[in-house]
Amino acid sequence: MAVSTPQDVHPQTDDAGSNLQEMARKHLWMHFSRMGGYDDQHEIPIIARAEGPYVYDDHGKRYLDGLSALFCCNAGHGRTEYGEAAAAQIKELDFYTNWSYAHPRAIELAERVAELTPGDLNHVFFTNSGSEAVEAAIKVARNWHRVHGRGQRHKIISREVAYHGTTMGALTATGITPLKVPFEPSMPGGSHVPNTNHLRWPADRDNLWAAERLRDRIEFEGPDTVAAVILEPLQNAGGCIPPQEGYFQRVREICDEFGVLLISDEVICSWGRLGHYFGAQRYEFQPDIITTAKALTGAYIPMGAMIASEEVYEPFSTGSASFAHGSTFGGHPVAAAVALRNLDVFAEEDLCGHVREHEGRFRQMLEDLRDIPIVGDVRGAGYFHAIELVKDRDSLEGFDHDESEWLLRGFLSGELYRRGLICRADDRGDPVIQLAPPLTCGPEQFEEIGTVLRDVLEEAWEKVQAE
Ligand SMILES: Cc1ncc(COP(=O)(O)O)c(C=O)c1O
Repeated sequence: MAVSTPQDVHPQTDDAGSNLQEMARKHLWMHFSRMGGYDDQHEIPIIARAEGPYVYDDHGKRYLDGLSALFCCNAGHGRTEYGEAAAAQIKELDFYTNWSYAHPRAIELAERVAELTPGDLNHVFFTNSGSEAVEAAIKVARNWHRVHGRGQRHKIISREVAYHGTTMGALTATGITPLKVPFEPSMPGGSHVPNTNHLRWPADRDNLWAAERLRDRIEFEGPDTVAAVILEPLQNAGGCIPPQEGYFQRVREICDEFGVLLISDEVICSWGRLGHYFGAQRYEFQPDIITTAKALTGAYIPMGAMIASEEVYEPFSTGSASFAHGSTFGGHPVAAAVALRNLDVFAEEDLCGHVREHEGRFRQMLEDLRDIPIVGDVRGAGYFHAIELVKDRDSLEGFDHDESEWLLRGFLSGELYRRGLICRADDRGDPVIQLAPPLTCGPEQFEEIGTVLRDVLEEAWEKVQAE
């Protein structure tokens, strides 16, 4: 693929640029964004075009999309064949709903997804987003217990600092206080257990400590009141937190001991992100339900899914029973056609195999940054890694709220972007830089990422010392 330099692509006139800026500031309410922070001196970043692992802003400047557009465009940008699949579908059947009707693409996609899932997760309920998939999983878990005469089982346990979405049910599972407080009271029955970030654990702590805290919590809540546990295979928020060896096997045992459903929230961890179709396959555990979204369609069009095991599906499959839940657009034929094409690409290009082959190089590039004193930890799996930033590497002292604010928002986010790298500088938990490049990336892009990170982190460390 021809590679263009940051400056030379599709320059737009300042007029066009500033017009978009003005219109955006006046009318576009961006998600999770401090709209008041944008003014004539602080432009809204406008991404106008994309190709392969690169995106271009409205001035024509090129960026390496080190976040796959928020963990979405796993097969890279600009695959026109996805558009062709969408156009062909629109010609054949523009839209019909999955609400009491089926259509060929949703059927084919459900079968294809079921073939790829671990174990007997054979029943695919399509949604339009990750939050909706989590919402459907919470509802089906509660409903499943109810139809079995255990209606008091309504509680959902998740992990501290985990993100599971923003709709009211999913938000209950989300474990990030500032995202919840403005909207409380939450759905009743949510509680949280420690996550698996062991960076500051005492050296003699048992490897399965976090799993045992889940057991304690189920006992504390009263096992007869707990419907499900929802966990990501590798937790995103808090900075790509992997499980300890044996963690999910122990979680599975605990869920079985107490009759609690295990939901693997794979909105990020599915579709090759960890080198497998599903994250549960990487860590070799069998969930009862998987939630997915984002890269299912390569994100060229929105689609999510809640995928249930035979046992979870069974009571909804006979007689007059049904799952009284749905949405008009779930399983949209155009989204299903794009997802099918996306899964063809995964198979044709062996994207999961590509990640497994190259993830070591990706990891090594990040490990090589450990000589910069601000780098306190490097962690993750597949093409999903984080660097945790610390003030003192020996004591692992982190940055307080004001320091994080200054470091991440005042310097790192802007500087990385200015130097042509899109990644995530995040402080949900301790401050981290997260990277999740498109799965098509290889050594050339890793080198590009490493060069920018080294320059910016060295400068950040100098600034920290000067403070
Ligand atoms: C693990 C997880 N679950 C759920 C969601 C919510 O997905 P969406 O933003 O599509 O609603 C996200 C979004 O990032 C996520 O990472």
